[in-house]
Amino acid sequence: MDGNGRWALQRGWPRAAGHQAGVDNIRPILECCVEAGIGCLTLYAFSTENWDRPDKEVSGLLTLLGSTIQRQLRDLDRNGVQIRHSGSLERIHPRLQAEVHRAIEVTRANDRIILNVAFNYGGRDEIIHAVRQMVAADLPAAQISETTFRQYLHHPDLPDLDLVIRTGGEFRLSNFMLWQTAYAEYYATETYWPAFGPAQLHEALAEFSRRERRFGRIEDS
Ligand code: FPP
Repeated sequence: MDGNGRWALQRGWPRAAGHQAGVDNIRPILECCVEAGIGCLTLYAFSTENWDRPDKEVSGLLTLLGSTIQRQLRDLDRNGVQIRHSGSLERIHPRLQAEVHRAIEVTRANDRIILNVAFNYGGRDEIIHAVRQMVAADLPAAQISETTFRQYLHHPDLPDLDLVIRTGGEFRLSNFMLWQTAYAEYYATETYWPAFGPAQLHEALAEFSRRERRFGRIEDS
């Protein structure tokens, strides 16, 4: 959800207004994903590195996550959205942890689309977490394969990512789903997240459908 801050500053508004606009943009994009037949949308909302931002911005983002759950949960649930969380809730206030758990529980049986919110998420952190779990389970080295490793990720049932869209003109993965993006197609756009609407999503999907995905293979000649 990159570019919220710059989108707001361009308008002479505080960065927080950009984050609110970023949240407001989730709904139309989610609808568009449902229409396009996309089964899972992951939003990278707060990385493990984002704690290094000024305290005011960090607390603003945590508050925004809580208030968004409170305001949107009923509607998301009614529309068949299943909410998931990727990341750690360890440094999060118990009240907000409870809100996140509530959102997950309430929407558990929904199957129209999965909305996975990566919050306090880091790809390296997820891999370290998986390794610790495997060690704790006394898994013999010979049993560790890509298939078993996947079982220790935050959401073993979710497939690898097909498409990563990076808004805001950056060309980095920024510690996002390092395992799951091994063969993802990457799409970068200058458009700031609050301005990335359905038209821009359709453009990204059209570009994705033109890509030839070989997964390391070559065609027989
Ligand atoms: C990136 O833009 C955006 C973020 C780091 C925060 C996004 C998170 C939220 C809007 C919080 C709530 C999330 C949900 C899913 C309810 P930036 O601040 O890096 O913008 P810039 O690159 O223009 O400075």
